[in-house]
This record gives sequence, structure tokens and C-alpha cells, in this order.
Amino acid sequence: MESTVNYIKEKIKDFQPEIGIILGSGLGDFADGFESIIIPYNDIPGFEKSNVQGHKGQLVFAQINGKKVVMMQGRYHFYEGYSMQTVTFPVKVMKKLGVKTLIITNAAGAVTPEFTPGDLMLITDHINFMGTNPLIGKNDETLGTRFPDMSEVYSKELIQKAEAIAQKLNINYQKGVYAATTGPSYETPSEVKMFRMLGANAVGMSTAPEAIVANYCGLKILGISCLTNYAAGVSETPLNHQEVIDTANRVKESFKNLLSEILKSI
Ligand code: HPA
Repeated sequence: MESTVNYIKEKIKDFQPEIGIILGSGLGDFADGFESIIIPYNDIPGFEKSNVQGHKGQLVFAQINGKKVVMMQGRYHFYEGYSMQTVTFPVKVMKKLGVKTLIITNAAGAVTPEFTPGDLMLITDHINFMGTNPLIGKNDETLGTRFPDMSEVYSKELIQKAEAIAQKLNINYQKGVYAATTGPSYETPSEVKMFRMLGANAVGMSTAPEAIVANYCGLKILGISCLTNYAAGVSETPLNHQEVIDTANRVKESFKNLLSEILKSI
């Protein structure tokens, strides 16, 4: 951790990020076009080598709407075979760099039939269905406590702010609970039905590990899902990754607008 943080600080000099953003599948473009300092994950000591299709795999430091931001363009997924430690390490690094607020984004399937692909969903809570927890193992007391409270992982205040902005910008949004699965296979219709009965509104393959660790570290969290498709069985059509990318591309502009207005208001 120390060599990771030192390496990054050396690169960014006196730029001290206050907000972190994890950009999900198809949403990575947000980080493009700003004057920025870019550090590929593969150059950072302590970061696993990354080689994911469709993800750039780099940290982007930029000032956006007056806010100093560090963005993850691409994340480590558990389904790629990375450990939970690897998946959540960047969140701990952000904390050590001085980040106070983390915005976590993802692509997810809509479990609630009334939601529509293309809607953005403000995450009110999550169900960690990954069968493991990123905090398992020896606890680092400098980051957080052994048994962290999880009663408000997603900041109500940030949800309210995001909601007001979405309304102002006329963006279709929902609020709901995100169920996290390991993937990489999509869910069966029965699994989706189960998630609905358990109170989930969307399902995806990320976010919960990062949110657990960010909450443990005392970061304020805002979670936004881009609902890219109906989860299996909600509609008749089979799922494929291309649909996920296509829908994310379609709503990219609203997503970008929402995000940059949110940055202003934090
Ligand atoms: N299920 C799980 N993860 C996803 C989905 C889905 O339907 N869509 C995008 N990510």
C-alpha cells in the first residue's frame, strides 16, 4: 500500500483528489476529454495486471466542475478470477489519497418489470450475494473497524442530491436495491425471480465489494446503475453482452450530464 500510494503521489504531485469515481461497463468515456493525469493500472505497484476487453484499466486524475477527481476507467471484477483483495484495493488506495466521497457506477439488469432498460437507478442499498466478503482476513485498523456497520452504505443525502439533479435534467431514473452476484454467467429466470422476492430491483456483477470496503473506510458513497437490459425472464429475449454495451452507449450522454452536475453539488 505504501509503495502504491507513494508511486501515485509522485505522479500527481500536489493534486489531491477529494472524489473518486468507479466507471462501469460502457461508461468509461466519462473520463475522456478532460485535461488529466493518466496512470495505467499495469504501471502501478500493488495493482494486479489487468487485461479486460472494453476496459481501459487506468486511473484518470482531473479537475471537473471545480472538483478534484480520481476516476477508475475500468475496474477489477471478481469473475475475472481476481481476489476480493485485488477488486477492492483501489478503493483503499483512494482513501489513502484523501478521497472523501466515492461514486460507484455499473451496468445492471432490471429485475423490476416496471423499470426500463436505459433508466439510471440510484442505489439505495445492496444485497451481497457473492458468497464472500472483501473484509475477510486480518483487519487493518488504520482503515476501519473489524465489524463495520452497514445500515447506511449509500448516503441518503447524496441520493437526494442526485435525485434533484436527475429531475432538473429530465433524466429517467429509478431508486432501488442492487443485488450483486459473481457472474460471469447471467442469472437464470428463477434466480431473477428469487432476487425480486428478496427485494432486489437490479442485478449485477460488481459494486457490492467496493461499496463494502468504501463504507468500512468511512467514505460517503453514491451508487448509480445503468439498467442496460431486463434481467433474465423479465422479458422473453436472451441476454448478451452487446446489448449491455449498446444500452450503456445510448444513455452515456445523460449519464455524463448527471455525473458532472452531481460533482458540482457535492
Ligand atoms: N445480470 C447481471 N449483470 C448484468 C446484467 C444482468 O442482467 N446486465 C448488466 N450486467
